[in-house]
Amino acid sequence: MSLPADPGTMGRVLPMTMPRLHGSLVVLRAFESGDQDLVTSVVSDALIPLITTVPPDGDAEDVAAYIARQRGRLQEGAGYSFAIADATSGKGVGQIGLWTREAHLGRATMGYWVAPQFRRRGYARDALATVTTWASSFTVLHRLQLFVEPWNTGSWRAAEACGFEREGLLRGWELVGDRYKDMYVYSRLTSA
Ligand SMILES: CC(C)(COP(=O)(O)OP(=O)(O)OC[C@H]1O[C@@H](n2cnc3c(N)ncnc32)[C@H](O)[C@@H]1OP(=O)(O)O)[C@@H](O)C(=O)NCCC(=O)NCCS
Repeated sequence: MSLPADPGTMGRVLPMTMPRLHGSLVVLRAFESGDQDLVTSVVSDALIPLITTVPPDGDAEDVAAYIARQRGRLQEGAGYSFAIADATSGKGVGQIGLWTREAHLGRATMGYWVAPQFRRRGYARDALATVTTWASSFTVLHRLQLFVEPWNTGSWRAAEACGFEREGLLRGWELVGDRYKDMYVYSRLTSA
């Protein structure tokens, strides 16, 4: 994992084990083999396989490999890939990542998805709020950011509800499928 070069800038170091984080509606935890059905349920989503490594078909081996990759993200230095689980049932409903390869520059990037059958129940907003609060406790992280296509109202509404501010439109920022797409950039400073 990338850690800041100057220990004097660190209040707390980023942990090398996956925490379990509690929100109002959600628990955020490491992916488990029992999340296979959740991942299988999003392989045919119009967007998720294009912006993540969710396999574009329901092959059980590929789904298991996706789960294994999420479990390896922290050790490989990419950051924290949490399964979003319902706080009451414990059932997986989505994924949220805090990507920390730029932690030495004071920033981390977030991204998330919620399976279609669980949308519009506040899971994304609560998961984002929960990770934001946790990430803001590390003084090494100064800026949290995320990138959203302008049409993706659900995503940027969740971001705005969590105190992220739209900074502008990045033209042709990210390859989504076979096209470079414009993205709104949103950020929240951890001192906010
Ligand atoms: C975007 C996504 C994560 C939203 O998840 P969700 O759990 O349904 O979101 P929430 O229920 O927390 O809703 C957050 C806000 O967006 C609104 N919203 C959600 N989906 C919406 C939609 N399709 N159209 C308009 N508003 C929407 C909600 O009403 C809520 O607004 P409010 O805070 O003003 O009440 C989900 O649709 C998804 O996974 N999409 C595919 C992957 C994706 O786009 N990931 C984000 C990439 S940047």
